[in-house]
Amino acid sequence: MKTKVLMVCLGNICRSPLAEGILKSKVDSNKIFVDSAGTAGYHVGNLPDKRSISVAQKYGIDINDQKCRKFSKEDFSEFDHIYVMDRSNFSDVANLAETKEEVNKVKLLLSEVELGIREVPDPYYGGNDGFENVYQMIDSACEAIAKKLN
Ligand code: 4NP
Repeated sequence: MKTKVLMVCLGNICRSPLAEGILKSKVDSNKIFVDSAGTAGYHVGNLPDKRSISVAQKYGIDINDQKCRKFSKEDFSEFDHIYVMDRSNFSDVANLAETKEEVNKVKLLLSEVELGIREVPDPYYGGNDGFENVYQMIDSACEAIAKKLN
């Protein structure tokens, strides 16, 4: 059985698609399944934000095959680890949990690393700098997760 990891942000077009693509690039896909979702449904069916596609491409990662979807309650039984980008995602996801086991699957992505910051900031309303910054944070956390899971 594969270990299943879900990356979650608000829109599923900026941060969690990057987290999905980056973690996929660091793990064995025969052993680990990675997906992403958003707590909101604004962009369901869409490709990731162009700025996420472009920063990923800069580091050799193709996220053009991803399609936005909304987080659902069923994801708690489907996934072993649910990583959220910020505290607001944490409460949105945790509020849908029905058991303690489900809540225990939810973690802040940056809890896996010591970066002196707990949340991956939402880069949606900022410039390209924000995406580079967010890429680096997510990359560090995914490196740590890959070491644990591989
Ligand atoms: P994400 O960024 O949660 O990293 O995908 C956002 C994308 C879209 C919106 C907000 C955040 N939005 O309000 O449409």
